[in-house]
Amino acid sequence: MKIPPVKGTRDFYPEEMRVHNFIVDGWKRASVRNGFEEYDGPIFEHLQMYKVKSGDEIAEQLFSLTDRGGRELAIRPEITPTLARMVNQKINSLPRPIKWFSVPRLCRAERPQKGRLREFFQWNVDIIGVDDVLADAEVIFAAVDYLRSVGLTEKDIQVKYSSRKVLTLYLKSLGIAENKLSEVYRILDKREKIPADVFEKMLSDCLSDKKIVTKVLDYMEKKMIVEDIARLEKTNKEMTDAFKELYDLNEYLKDMGIDEYCVEEPSIVRGLAYYTGIVFEIHDSVGDLRAICGGGRFDNLLHDFGGPSISATGFGMGDCVLEILLEERGLLKDRLQKGKTDYFVAYAEELYKRDAVDLVAQLRGKNKIANFSYKGGGLGKQLKEASMQNAGKCVIIGSESERGELAIKDMATGEQVTVKEEEFFKSL
Ligand code: HAM
Repeated sequence: MKIPPVKGTRDFYPEEMRVHNFIVDGWKRASVRNGFEEYDGPIFEHLQMYKVKSGDEIAEQLFSLTDRGGRELAIRPEITPTLARMVNQKINSLPRPIKWFSVPRLCRAERPQKGRLREFFQWNVDIIGVDDVLADAEVIFAAVDYLRSVGLTEKDIQVKYSSRKVLTLYLKSLGIAENKLSEVYRILDKREKIPADVFEKMLSDCLSDKKIVTKVLDYMEKKMIVEDIARLEKTNKEMTDAFKELYDLNEYLKDMGIDEYCVEEPSIVRGLAYYTGIVFEIHDSVGDLRAICGGGRFDNLLHDFGGPSISATGFGMGDCVLEILLEERGLLKDRLQKGKTDYFVAYAEELYKRDAVDLVAQLRGKNKIANFSYKGGGLGKQLKEASMQNAGKCVIIGSESERGELAIKDMATGEQVTVKEEEFFKSL
């Protein structure tokens, strides 16, 4: 019986694993140079954790299970709730600000499509304990810093940011009730992903008042708001502060030299329920792929999970869209090369096979990547195997060289020298 892979999952053969490692290594390096420390949590948590604050969309996409003790659990669809739980647990002993990163494997029962799968990796970068928009700027910088480091320019990607605060205050000013807001965010977040008529119908069903629907649609298209917002900005202190944050963010992005990558875009809403301030997404400039990255400020999540009120901001960047984009821009070609073997040890005759095994073991003991042929056979065949393994040098035992001597062939130049075994090891 042949068992197929599960829908929406990927197998990482060595070739795919090389690309995967290239992406993850880059994420980790960027995290460290931006001052973040790595953490991780369990791959499943109590189901309740995601039902409380992630929002309906994520709750509908959970892979859940009941364990033998009757506990309802779910495989993590995101790591932000775990982060909040972990930080809360040790809140008094953790020095602040907390700057942590993680690269969890996540599962969401989404409809698989280009750039969206049921199992994926997501780079998470979060700052906890800084109530200043500078922290939002810093996490955006970390994301751009990484994307730049792999060769993407401001022509390839764009950071679109907005303020959930401005939107919330505006929606409230239209008379939309507080308990409706997370549903409205979820619908607004779908705007670019579903047909316009379906989007409008969803919004109308949710808000029922036609006038309000029109106002919200105008907001999303940046039409209306000038007068309404200007009025609110003058009369509402919270709105004034929210605009000041947007202004400050823009200034910090300039200071950091990444303003060319960034643009304010009021229609960025984010589907997750817990965002409270600046929100952002990174998209490919052509706009034909789903978001590469999404994040924002979530100042209430720790408190909602039973901890103190502490501000937090961060993002998640998935590996799927990123890989498609890197591939499309030709930025993965070199990464597809097989890793190098430092030394391939060939034996001229079967009787030297055990010497070859001995030598390979010694080389590996010296931290060299070394290999030999299981099959042996003629030297020509073994040299071919050495080339297939991308070997830098081939050490040949038993041909032309005397006992205690080794022939070393440089695989790039073809040049061959004979050296004493002792000297060879000294030179390593
Ligand atoms: P999110 O918008 O749900 O945010 O996901 C962030 C990113 O994860 C997306 O932009 C995308 O790159 C990737 N992603 C999401 N779902 C899938 C999927 N089914 N397949 C492939 N990639 C996917 C969050 O998860 C927040 N917890 C991020 C965050 C961290 N906010 C603050 N800190």
